[in-house]
Amino acid sequence: MTLDIRNLDACDPLRDRRALFEIPAGLTYLDGNSLGPLTIAAKARLRSAAEHEWGRGLIASWNDADWIRLPAIAGAKIARVIGAEADEVIVCDSVSVNLFKLAAALKRSTPAAQFAIDAAEFPTDIYILDGLSSLLGERLRAGRELPPGPVILVKSLVDFRTGAVADIANAEAEVRSAGGAIIWDLSHAAGVLDVRIKESGARFAVGCGYKFLNGGPGAPAFVYARRDASGLSQPISGWMGHARPFDFAGGYVPAEGAARFAAGTPPILSLCALDAALDAFDGVDPADVETKARRLGDLFLERTEGLGLRTISPQSGRRGGQVSLVHEQGYAVMQALIARGVVGDFRPPDIMRFGFSPLFLRYADVASAADALKLVLSTEEWRDQRFSMRRLVT
Ligand SMILES: Cc1ncc(COP(=O)(O)O)c(C=O)c1O
Repeated sequence: MTLDIRNLDACDPLRDRRALFEIPAGLTYLDGNSLGPLTIAAKARLRSAAEHEWGRGLIASWNDADWIRLPAIAGAKIARVIGAEADEVIVCDSVSVNLFKLAAALKRSTPAAQFAIDAAEFPTDIYILDGLSSLLGERLRAGRELPPGPVILVKSLVDFRTGAVADIANAEAEVRSAGGAIIWDLSHAAGVLDVRIKESGARFAVGCGYKFLNGGPGAPAFVYARRDASGLSQPISGWMGHARPFDFAGGYVPAEGAARFAAGTPPILSLCALDAALDAFDGVDPADVETKARRLGDLFLERTEGLGLRTISPQSGRRGGQVSLVHEQGYAVMQALIARGVVGDFRPPDIMRFGFSPLFLRYADVASAADALKLVLSTEEWRDQRFSMRRLVT
């Protein structure tokens, strides 16, 4: 290890955060962009939620342990991370379901607007718009060009394949000038970029709880609706989005703000894990997180230069928390790397993704991951047959 790397770690303003995570010994985890690791706080919270809150408190815990407010409490923590007001974010459902609710609500408020999405977006986003379109008797044409007139555009802030960051202000100006709206997918941005969602002019967004926010497998997702744009009427008008669910009244009255995007009973155990994990961001400046994510990515690119891999990720300033390298046998190379204790993932046809989650990764981890990749390629150990056997999750 060079002195330089040691210095980078010693001067890292986030260096104390790693101790909040349970990273298995000997593992370099570059997949926090897909599934963030377990925090010590989330593990303790899951145990106490099961043993005390559920086990002993039973139904009283809806009030005593504040379960009923947990979607808003965790939402307020995410709001701080993405630069929104506390009541502009609610934790609920999955990204897929939240997209459906927001897109349908926007369509209801602007019936003339057409759904629009780039064909390179994350597939579930396309599937959801496609399904909603056919429900409404319309046809979705996914493509790069926006159709004329108002659109309801679904767009990722960070591209899941390349890590490229979109320009919120420009896109908002273009779409709004034609009377349309954008739903931002912050799945690969929340917890790694200094999003400043409100300041950027974005009015609607959804995002994932289990990636850089470390909420755990299948953690609930979130909805952001800016205060001045939250008067929408969403189609899954379940009781948890009602202003007063425990009035058990006949008519549906939506809650104020983003809370109206909740629908059914929240998954309390998952929410407890997410809520506790979010405390890892306490006192953290999102600008430090973004800077470190990019530096880690730069270091990895610098150290893997000359290995014959093509990068499809942009330069630092326009990149999120991941670097994507292309190799014809990317799947096998990634499997061989994982066997060496460096975990990234693979996206077809040939993309190896390396995620740089700034709260728990050290510069030294990234340097040694690059060394491991070098070794896997130079020894060609990826050619071993066992590394080509595709599993269900890649
Ligand atoms: C950009 C993006 N959007 C949506 C999703 C899926 O979200 P969910 O499983 O919560 O519906 C993912 C999952 O990886 C994603 O990367």
